[in-house]
Amino acid sequence: MQASFPKAATDQGARHVDGSGSGSPGARHVAIIMDGNGRWAKKRLLPRIAGHRAGVEAVRRVARAARELGLECLTLYAFSSENWKRPASEVADLMGLLRHFIQADLDEFHANGVRLRVIGDYRALDPALVGMIDGAIARTAENSGPVIAIALNYGAQDEMVRAAQRLARRVADGELDPAAIDPAAIEGALDTADLPPLDLLIRTSGEQRLSNFMLWQAAYAELYFTDILWPDFDADALARALASFNRRDRRFGGL
Ligand code: FPP
Repeated sequence: MQASFPKAATDQGARHVDGSGSGSPGARHVAIIMDGNGRWAKKRLLPRIAGHRAGVEAVRRVARAARELGLECLTLYAFSSENWKRPASEVADLMGLLRHFIQADLDEFHANGVRLRVIGDYRALDPALVGMIDGAIARTAENSGPVIAIALNYGAQDEMVRAAQRLARRVADGELDPAAIDPAAIEGALDTADLPPLDLLIRTSGEQRLSNFMLWQAAYAELYFTDILWPDFDADALARALASFNRRDRRFGGL
């Protein structure tokens, strides 16, 4: 069974994760573009894989912090549908790290009630890795704790194309009236259908672009850019991002 969340961004008085109790509700869903592994390694005269390894350590720290701070969902951009353009050796390194991460960390996630999810076209990956991912998702599906969603072979435009194809198939099968396709129908066909609305999108390493990440979901998300390179990102950095979020005045197009 998939988890379901109230959809409207304002429909739940979630507590402020920094402990303050006033103003708009605290963040429920935070997504991170984890950028800067390569530059972190270069600064230390290390190979890029060392930066990605340190990036995995940051993933562990931040996943733990997200749970402790009471977030409902943390989505992490681990491999984009465009990352295939990198040298084959780096792609293989990233896939190896991912495999090892699932093997090494699944028990801890499960013990802490975390539900593991994946967004993106991950079924196009190596079949052994797909099996491992499906096993991890199934094992943690009934947990009641926060969701850690890993974006794998993910691109927002690709996600929207796949959503359009799903809806088109339902139209062709006579199940769906084209006139009934509204934002909720599209949202329901995205990979994030059963995740809470995105509140805060963080990008590390000083770059200020979305790089094809959660373009639909970011429509009303708050954006937060930090110069910290991903391997240096930690619980304090996450808390600072959330404190910034809590100071924002979100109007969702209203006054
Ligand atoms: C961007 O840094 C980072 C990535 C493309 C991959 C992110 C992957 C990890 C943090 C490790 C694997 C993740 C999991 C969940 C196990 P970059 O290489 O583009 O850095 P640069 O821009 O400084 O070169």
